[in-house]
Amino acid sequence: MPDATSTPSLVDLEGDPHPHLANLRASGPVSWLPVLGGWLVTDRATAIEVMRDDTTFTVDDQRFSTAQVVGRSMLSVDGAEHDRHRSPFSDPFRSGAVREELGPWVREEVRRIVGSFAGDGSAELRSALAAPLAVSTVVHTLGLGDVDHDRVLAWYRTIGAAIEGVNAGQSVDDGAVAAVAGLRSRIDATVAEGVGLLADAARLLGADEVFANAAVIMFGAIETSEGTTASALLHLLSAPEQLAEVLVDLSLVANVVEEALRIEPAASLVDRYATRNVVLAGVAIRRGDLVTVSLAAANRDPEVFDDPDRFDLHRVNARQHLTFVQGPHVCLGMHLARLETREAIEAVLDLLPGIRLEPERSTPARGLVFRKPGSVAAVWDVSRRARTG
Ligand code: HEM
Repeated sequence: MPDATSTPSLVDLEGDPHPHLANLRASGPVSWLPVLGGWLVTDRATAIEVMRDDTTFTVDDQRFSTAQVVGRSMLSVDGAEHDRHRSPFSDPFRSGAVREELGPWVREEVRRIVGSFAGDGSAELRSALAAPLAVSTVVHTLGLGDVDHDRVLAWYRTIGAAIEGVNAGQSVDDGAVAAVAGLRSRIDATVAEGVGLLADAARLLGADEVFANAAVIMFGAIETSEGTTASALLHLLSAPEQLAEVLVDLSLVANVVEEALRIEPAASLVDRYATRNVVLAGVAIRRGDLVTVSLAAANRDPEVFDDPDRFDLHRVNARQHLTFVQGPHVCLGMHLARLETREAIEAVLDLLPGIRLEPERSTPARGLVFRKPGSVAAVWDVSRRARTG
């Protein structure tokens, strides 16, 4: 266990933050963290209080780096302006719409991807399945057509690096400007086709706003969905007794997804800025202070979750996790994200008989904000006939 008097370093938080977060929470739900230059919220009740009160804890601040790179979007504004940015996208991402419009496509795509390597008998499932599924799903959902997925990933990485650079005090470099321009021309071309989600949004938002929101949807969807699918597979394959139960009863896959979302949220920190002096859980916060919510810590709050460090597919209240946050910025893509991970697990169990983890070639999640396993190496039996799905 970490020393009770020390505050965690960035290295601690990037590696295994959970014991450090538990230690912070034990000394109070709101702690000043010098390495983040802000307050860190570590219990579930206070996390909800912050995320629901966008008047006191806003995202709309000039330090918000994503807006500096792609422009103002639903992710970076609050109040009526947020509703205006978000409302054109709300209906297509509702649960029923996702199930009906995207369900069959996702199922087929997952099975195409798994089928492409099923005959090999082994694979690293994050790069072979979770990553390509995340990219192709968002490209399909946004209607970006036959754009090269490697190009999408290159834009994504360059723009992501620029956002991190802005966080570190750098300006946006030429490479990032070119990546934004490349993505922008693809999105403008999709809008010009006149049909689909982006064309519908363009009837309500300006061209810059459609671009910024499309970029945020892409960047919100790729890293996190990849991380969640990889993490769910890693946790399930690491627990052979629970895996055996799921193989007998595939209806348990939904619980696996929820518990994976809880135990390792793929986006582990969200930032807010205090708009006034306020007392939060007994701590005096000053106007302008950064208030970061640790979703990873809230999801292991022992007041809410028994034995919180244990992956337990029978946990009855797993859905109380805050992985998709609460309040106005609740994840737009949460139903799609759940669908992707559920379909991925079902396809793996159906098409890769006798699947088991190769622990010595698998590595756990890491990352400060975005967390995902390094690798999820698995082997299976190619001689046995695949179960029919
Ligand atoms: C398991 C995968 C995912 C996780 C863990 C996740 C997590 C999150 C979190 C934590 C937020 C809130 C950010 C904040 O409050 O500052 C968020 C917002 C958002 N997410 Fe997701 N996300 C996932 C998948 C997706 C997908 C698949 C999409 C789109 C297809 C998406 C689109 C968005 C958008 C557009 C927002 C901004 C909503 C707003 O500000 O009103 N996400 N997501």
